[in-house]
Amino acid sequence: MASYRITLLPGDGIGPEIMAIAVQVLKRIGEKFSITFEFQEALVGGAAIDATGEPLPAATLETCKQSDSVLLAAIGGYKWDTLPRHQRPETGLLALRAGLGLFANLRPATILPQLVDASSLKREIVEGVDIMVVRELTGGIYFGQPRGVVETETGEKRGFNTMVYSESEIDRIGRVAFETAQKRRKKLCSVDKANVLEVSQLWRDRITVLAADYPDVELTHMYVDNAAMQLVRNPKQFDTIVTGNLFGDILSDAAAMLTGSIGMLPSASLSSARPGLYEPVHGSAPDIAGQDKANPLAQILSAAMMLRYDLNEAAAADAIEQAVVKVLDQGYRTGDIMSDGMIAVGCQGMGEAILAAIG
Ligand code: IPM
Ligand code: MG
Repeated sequence: MASYRITLLPGDGIGPEIMAIAVQVLKRIGEKFSITFEFQEALVGGAAIDATGEPLPAATLETCKQSDSVLLAAIGGYKWDTLPRHQRPETGLLALRAGLGLFANLRPATILPQLVDASSLKREIVEGVDIMVVRELTGGIYFGQPRGVVETETGEKRGFNTMVYSESEIDRIGRVAFETAQKRRKKLCSVDKANVLEVSQLWRDRITVLAADYPDVELTHMYVDNAAMQLVRNPKQFDTIVTGNLFGDILSDAAAMLTGSIGMLPSASLSSARPGLYEPVHGSAPDIAGQDKANPLAQILSAAMMLRYDLNEAAAADAIEQAVVKVLDQGYRTGDIMSDGMIAVGCQGMGEAILAAIG
């Protein structure tokens, strides 16, 4: 019987509610597929700040490193927004990504046929959208040095950050992206700002060099402003997108919204070894926390991605994804994806429907 150590990071806001559902789903799947999960919970984000004063306690990083995979819900909330940067929940998430070497962030934006009408865009634009955004996650302007705010001689403050990529950083994310495209429709669009930024010109040059190793993949390049426009104009032109940390942050939210609700989308963050980290694309939604309103499906689908990528349990992952499609077919909807004639459920109700669908 396969057995895996899974670190659970419920975090803040709706995090604990949706994590509880995902754990129930994993336990049920474990029974069906003879998989044992050894869960250990650890603190991150605001929950960790409240308990220990730091957003990523050393013990949490250590627990994560010793596990086969890490499942995260969400971090952050108004309560911690005014703390100094090193004590902010977001800083804990960034330290976790860096500490686990999670340089590749895979964010699928797939529109399910049942949810086409939940999109803010017209049916003919979004029907059939199936995009994978491969975002570089441990470099670029998020981590570049120097950074800071200094006071100039005139007494005026000046803030600065540095967007920096080395060839090796571009190559390793580039290879993940080409390999991802090979498993999909073999089209890769690299997004940069090479018309203005030197760092982007280097990015474009390296990705172009790498392309020679992947002759079956059709490579195109696009400036980030145009990519933002094309995503809402004609998203079906995209298959796999690869881009740096900041552009990927922005474009992955735009891509997510094409699908109707950011509450549906999982993500995987991978290093060159296990463990990876799996989390919903959405945030901690403090405005609806504790009210049984959250959509747990992105968390559940993140658990499925974990089974597929880190644990190599494809059949179990398929079963979860099929259960999600089934409950949507049955008409169950949380508030964020509700439409006329559907059955309104809360977070718990959606979880129960999923458990029933798994059987
Ligand atoms: C994301 C989030 C994070 C990011 C924040 C919470 C630090 O927006 O995962 O996209 O900017 O990377
Ligand atoms: Mg973001």
